[in-house]
Amino acid sequence: MIPADLFPPRIQLANTPTPLQKMDRLSQQAGVEIFFKRDDFTGSELSGNKVRKLEFIMADALAKGADTVITCGGAQSNHCRATALAAVKAGLSSLLLLRTGDPANPPALSGNILLDRLAGSEIVWITPEQYRARDEIFEREARRLRGQGREPYIIPEGGSTALGAWGYVAEMEELAADLRRLDGDDVKPTTVVCATGSGGTTAGLALGVQLMGADIRVVGVNVCDDRDYFVAIIDSLCRQFNETWPSVLAGGIPTYDILDGYVGRGYALSRPEELAVLRDLVRLEGVVLDPVYTGKAYFGMMTELSVNPQIFGGRIVFVHTGGLFGLFPVADQFAALV
Ligand SMILES: Cc1ncc(COP(=O)(O)O)c(C=O)c1O
Repeated sequence: MIPADLFPPRIQLANTPTPLQKMDRLSQQAGVEIFFKRDDFTGSELSGNKVRKLEFIMADALAKGADTVITCGGAQSNHCRATALAAVKAGLSSLLLLRTGDPANPPALSGNILLDRLAGSEIVWITPEQYRARDEIFEREARRLRGQGREPYIIPEGGSTALGAWGYVAEMEELAADLRRLDGDDVKPTTVVCATGSGGTTAGLALGVQLMGADIRVVGVNVCDDRDYFVAIIDSLCRQFNETWPSVLAGGIPTYDILDGYVGRGYALSRPEELAVLRDLVRLEGVVLDPVYTGKAYFGMMTELSVNPQIFGGRIVFVHTGGLFGLFPVADQFAALV
């Protein structure tokens, strides 16, 4: 157990604990035990992994007297949608910087974008080039809001900050309790696999393992960029975590692996074989993944297992981090598969 007083203040947003479900048929096929940690069940509209991070981030925004949160992401960002809805729950406004090729002709009102709009978010469409300089745009928009007498609070991409990482420290504590319920005191060595998109989930899981001294290996499957990019980000998040809460880990940087090689055609772009594996899981276990994050991570995990069934050891927990709303805007791509 992690002492409750170590945790920073949080507001309650996520429905937790989420279920840990054994995938019996999948386990039989793969020859190893595969469980899913259903973080897609953290809520309905306010669902997925971002909700866990936002519990801590929103508490901080409220403590700092903010009235508007600003964040950023791809056009169909799950993080932005979760932030827009969490802001409503916290009584705040939200402004989203959303990335798109042609800001003059933004994408259709579908999936997460529809939910952002329903939540009343202000959306500023920006190009991929502007997105790379998003810190300047964050500052520009924050200045504009301050000029209107408002109090903005900036949430970096994906909510992947040292504070947000606490959400997945908490998840690791929850998972360790799930595993104890399965095994008693003699918990089997376990590998936790998750999608890595901005690094905060992987960092939080790894920090949680270190904090608990658990026999758990953390593997993130990057869905964009590459291994070096994410090692730099995750190590930096862990260092910030240590600097901000020096007594928690006594300075140690946790260990984790990034499984590279499954970005495929690029961020949010799918290959037919990835979508086919996603479909097969629906037909095998009745579990639906998203094409951008969990589908790619799962494809990577299953591809590795098909070559070496023992690559992750005898027990895997795949974290289903949500993202289902991202499936519907790409429905056309499934036409030949269903
Ligand atoms: C559904 C889903 N899964 C996984 C991730 C990756 O999490 P992280 O950004 O913390 O690496 C994200 C966001 O990027 C997401 O929306």
